[in-house]
Amino acid sequence: MSQSYEVIFENNRKWVESKLSTDPHFFEELAKTQHPDYLYIGCSDSRATAEELMGAKPGEVFVHRNIANVVNTLDMSSTAVIQYAVEHLRVKHIIVCGHYNCGGVKAAMTPEDLGLLNPWLRNIRDVYRLHQAELDSIEDDGKRYDRLVELNVLEQCINVIKMACVQERYILEEYPIVHGWVFDLRTGKIIDLEIDFEKVLKDIQKIYNLTESNWVMNRKTK
Ligand code: CO
Repeated sequence: MSQSYEVIFENNRKWVESKLSTDPHFFEELAKTQHPDYLYIGCSDSRATAEELMGAKPGEVFVHRNIANVVNTLDMSSTAVIQYAVEHLRVKHIIVCGHYNCGGVKAAMTPEDLGLLNPWLRNIRDVYRLHQAELDSIEDDGKRYDRLVELNVLEQCINVIKMACVQERYILEEYPIVHGWVFDLRTGKIIDLEIDFEKVLKDIQKIYNLTESNWVMNRKTK
């Protein structure tokens, strides 16, 4: 499926033309501002496109992608994206979307030295360790792989919910809600893992409650 580099500019020219043919002010409007309702955190995999699989238009989704859709508190890139989306864009929904046949998850299941990728894959290996009893009880390799993809989404959702900005904003506005999805490359369908956001939030607040600060309480009573 390789194509020449120049094709991209040709595609871009056609895209601009088609946008302008339906709305002559499309780019004028686009340039003004953004009010996306969704933050999408997904895998960098070239097959798991964010906007296309959701049928979203420019301006509708704020996107962060990395290998195996990981949210780690020490990763400034993902935490800055979440902070900005929650505090400034006031997104209503945060979606963590994994996908079956994820190379990052597969690599993490392989207990070998993968050099520079090791510290990144450790995030997923930690997910495996947290759920080792369940995963090791699955005999079929393919099913175990699929399940780790799902559990990785769940744990990354929990990592999002651990963040103070998410907890604070939720108390103030009842948004954002965090959702866990898996994109099934084999069917093209999005599967909603139906994570019970309220319950996860309540459970983790026993340990990670970051909302008792005076700042939040003062804002809440205003
Ligand atoms: Co992937």
